[in-house]
Amino acid sequence: MKDVTKLARKGILTLKPYVPGKPIEEVQRELGLKDVTKLASNENSNGPSPEAIRAIEAELDTIFRYPDPSCTLLRNAVAKKLGVGQEMITLANGCDNIIYMIGAAFINQGDEVIMAEPTFPVYESVTRIMGGRAVPVKLKHHTHDLDGMAERIGPKTKLVFLCNPNNPTGTIVPKAALNRFLAGLTDDVILALDEAYFDYVSEKDYPDGISLLRDDLNLIALRTFSKIYGLAGLRIGYAVAHGDLIGLMERVREPFPVNRVAQAAALAALADEKHVERVLRQHEEGRAFLYRQFQRLKVDYVPTQANFIFVNFKRDSQEIYHALLKEGVIIRPGTIWDYPTSARITIGTMDENRRLIEKLEGFLRRR
Ligand SMILES: Cc1ncc(COP(=O)(O)O)c(C=O)c1O
Repeated sequence: MKDVTKLARKGILTLKPYVPGKPIEEVQRELGLKDVTKLASNENSNGPSPEAIRAIEAELDTIFRYPDPSCTLLRNAVAKKLGVGQEMITLANGCDNIIYMIGAAFINQGDEVIMAEPTFPVYESVTRIMGGRAVPVKLKHHTHDLDGMAERIGPKTKLVFLCNPNNPTGTIVPKAALNRFLAGLTDDVILALDEAYFDYVSEKDYPDGISLLRDDLNLIALRTFSKIYGLAGLRIGYAVAHGDLIGLMERVREPFPVNRVAQAAALAALADEKHVERVLRQHEEGRAFLYRQFQRLKVDYVPTQANFIFVNFKRDSQEIYHALLKEGVIIRPGTIWDYPTSARITIGTMDENRRLIEKLEGFLRRR
């Protein structure tokens, strides 16, 4: 094959493809294991509402038709639930796709985009794909350093990504700090507030991005059906913002961003509040269990407001990752965020949590 790199758009050769949590099927294939527990991608192991499954089945007869590109029914249902106008919402193929739309709509060559380090890596890759410059600001005590981020805002700044709760640390920015930050933003800067884990937050001092939307503020809140609604495999996320900002994002929207099955499932999932309550109860039980077990095993952890826990083993976490993998438990080692002794572990079902602890304890005892 000839060298095709000369054909690439400027800048993309330094990008690396996104590294997802290791898929269950890959571990089964590679290690010949049948029973694999994945706690590496912050999915909801409880799965979706049974109503969503029924809606998926009912939709199958129509999959030869293109979906509604505007997701009208779902958009109206989300708008009603959030108490905003439907023109303030755009849905897409996961929040990942929303982040791409934000990049495509707003980032010019040379624009600076401020984000935490570490945070959700898609912000940086989208920035670089668009020819922007990512400006990382290190977390302080595992939390966004909003003062540090405000200091980095300059004439070239176009966008700030704020992940609240932050992935991978699970920490939140509280109301007063966010309000202070917003008060300092000028008209030329957009704040993309990623609230993918919004529904898991129990802390009272957590700011709800939707309630902060104002006509004079360039604020875009991001939410997803991948987490609490358990529909990660169908890919549905959305942005909420002033209709004018949404209008700009829709100019770069794919023709049919959300497939029919996903739209039907999300609509049914949204209506099943009992399921969300069940998931939350399981989540709280799992979190309390894992906190207790980590304390017993003397594993440090960052208290979380999301469905994952950032732990510090104080030893090479790759070694622990590989040892757990052999036992059929997948976690996310911290090397990808430059935290070589840390790992991010999704809170699973109680069976999954127990299995994790049993395998982890076995490893720690052997060492
Ligand atoms: C902070 C954050 N934003 C966005 C996403 C992507 O969500 P989606 O599955 O809707 O693309 C994730 C997924 O893990 C995430 O952690």
